[in-house]
Amino acid sequence: MSPFPLTRTLPEDATDAALRSDVLRGLTHTPRTLPPKWFYDAHGSDLFEQITELPEYYPTRAEREILLARAPEIAAATGARTLVELGSGSSDKTRHLLDAMPDLHTYVPVDVSESALRQAGEALIAERSGLHVHALIADFTAALTLPDTPVPRLVAFLGGTVGNLLPAERAGFLDSVRALMSPGDALLLGTDLVKDASVLVAAYDDAAGVTAEFNKNVLTVVNRELGADFDLDAFGHVALWDAENEWIEMRLRSRRAQTVKIPAVDLAVDFAAGEDLRTEVSAKFREDGVRGELAAAGLKLTHWWTDREARFALSLSMAR
Ligand code: AVJ
Repeated sequence: MSPFPLTRTLPEDATDAALRSDVLRGLTHTPRTLPPKWFYDAHGSDLFEQITELPEYYPTRAEREILLARAPEIAAATGARTLVELGSGSSDKTRHLLDAMPDLHTYVPVDVSESALRQAGEALIAERSGLHVHALIADFTAALTLPDTPVPRLVAFLGGTVGNLLPAERAGFLDSVRALMSPGDALLLGTDLVKDASVLVAAYDDAAGVTAEFNKNVLTVVNRELGADFDLDAFGHVALWDAENEWIEMRLRSRRAQTVKIPAVDLAVDFAAGEDLRTEVSAKFREDGVRGELAAAGLKLTHWWTDREARFALSLSMAR
């Protein structure tokens, strides 16, 4: 039993069906692609935690610096009584925000991982008696129904994960976030910023090889879940900066001509030597672009905060 309400909006087998359809679609497509959400099984989530501590991977530290400095302003500007966090995971960074919000009534963490929600929710309730927690097991890219909690609401989407969506997906996502909000509610959005290509590429191709292992972990997931026979040593990790689209791409490059079998979807995929499989897009932003994308969704940007080195931004916008 959970000491707080936990609402499931994902059927138990939704993940399995979604993985099959993503693998089938992405691996029969040219160029070949897989969506980044499949990195995050237990091992992949652990590798990502390691990435956040690498010297080259600055976004997590930069965002924490902004949150620590600005949490009181965020609390004052929003007057939020409900905090909804999309992709809450361990809720670690959220603590800075929660600590600055003494009037908060309810915290609504939203994540696909039921275990992460249970752990984070139990810890928070123990730390802060009186805070209501209502967790949602849900995919934040799908339609959500929020519990009936006091307004105004602050919706937070941190970490720069919005950059993993392609521009059209991002527009649809921001529309659906806006649809959850009422006038006076606010969105706190974390976005990594455009900067020198060498800094960006290093952040996605670290010297210790942790990101390479993280990238290849998606193949382990497909091997385990769908009975595939990807040979991890037959692919190389690639991180490149696409200057036109202003995004980082992670790819897995086939070291030789090879055929990979994926029995659960009845597929055999031929890779040419040097052929790439795109596993992630991580878009980098500018203030004007973020303001424009938010405006298109009916959100007015009211605050723009960066870390001291202007590597990462948190924006606050209001529903009209
Ligand atoms: C968790 C999506 C923000 O795009 O920077 C880290 C994931 N990929 N290293 C990012 C990631 C490679 C990360 N996000």
